Amino acid sequence: LTLKTQFKDHFKIGTAISRDQVLGALPEDLNVAKAQFNTFTPENSMKWERIHPEPQTYDFEAADALVQYAQENNQELVGHTLVWHSQTPDWVFEDEQGEPLTRDALLKRMQNHINAVAGRYKNRIFAWDVVNEALNEDGTLRESKWSTIIGDDFIEYAFKYAKQAAPNAKLYYNDYNLYKPEKRAGAIALIKNLQSKGIQIDGIGMQAHYSLDNPELSLMEDSIVAYAATGIDVMITELDISVLPFPEGEEQGADISLDIALQERFNPYPNGLPSEINTQLGERYKAVFNILKKHDDKVSRVTFWGISDARTWRNDWPMQGRTDYPLLIDRELKLKSFVSDL
Ligand code: XIL
Repeated sequence: LTLKTQFKDHFKIGTAISRDQVLGALPEDLNVAKAQFNTFTPENSMKWERIHPEPQTYDFEAADALVQYAQENNQELVGHTLVWHSQTPDWVFEDEQGEPLTRDALLKRMQNHINAVAGRYKNRIFAWDVVNEALNEDGTLRESKWSTIIGDDFIEYAFKYAKQAAPNAKLYYNDYNLYKPEKRAGAIALIKNLQSKGIQIDGIGMQAHYSLDNPELSLMEDSIVAYAATGIDVMITELDISVLPFPEGEEQGADISLDIALQERFNPYPNGLPSEINTQLGERYKAVFNILKKHDDKVSRVTFWGISDARTWRNDWPMQGRTDYPLLIDRELKLKSFVSDL
């Protein structure tokens, strides 16, 4: 049994792929990805800082390799991401003197970037996360250089430019904590605003960086139903379930690999996950997939944020140097035993 066959009557099942994986440093990872999943998202390779690091420099090496690999292996590819406040170099927002760009100049720069990146893979990429993480937790628009320099309509322009650059691609809005009722209201307003202006938006991606006790899954379910009611596709785009304690305040971001006291508190399972915690993880995944399967008329894709526990960003976030177990595939690249119950 593979994940893609197990869920074939429900939704597409995907994974994020890293630069190292696609450029051949980890061939066994790529074999597992090809066997288990039917849709890929580049983990970092198409983000602005990677693909367009300097004003006149594009680096398409990893992105090109992934597009080609996906094509050769019948994997649907979702580009990630065209417009985001994070992993975007400072120069994007400045002129040659280091002064902030005008609205018109930044719009032009956004359009050129989208043309270069989305245009390059036109007809070879199934869909794009056009805008990522533009909302605050209370549903208002996040203050970023995009919103400050251009204004709230930067989102409309991003979708219009993406449509022009890749007219056949599906266009998505992607964000985290979209289960929260206030953020849900903001996302629905964003979708409806685009729809009312005749700007194409095809789907919403709910990142799902969950833990054993958060979020309350009924909120996730309510959000799936509410987003689907706007008429667009709903996708779970970045699923992982951390089993580790979530640090608060200044502990967030800390590298704990050399700090024994922090390790005892925040990295409790460096040598393997106790079976009772693994059972809890399985129960949690089962609860998530029960909801997703119940709404498989609305949910078109479920993408995990990584292939296996050996290489997941959660080993380094929200603290660095931990041993987490958030995915369905273990460090030996085997499906976890609870997967057959999902
Ligand atoms: C993460 C990657 O997994 C890390 O390798 C990188 O250091 C930071 O970004 N939301 C997103 C993803 O939309 O792009 C992020 O990916 C995780 C959170």
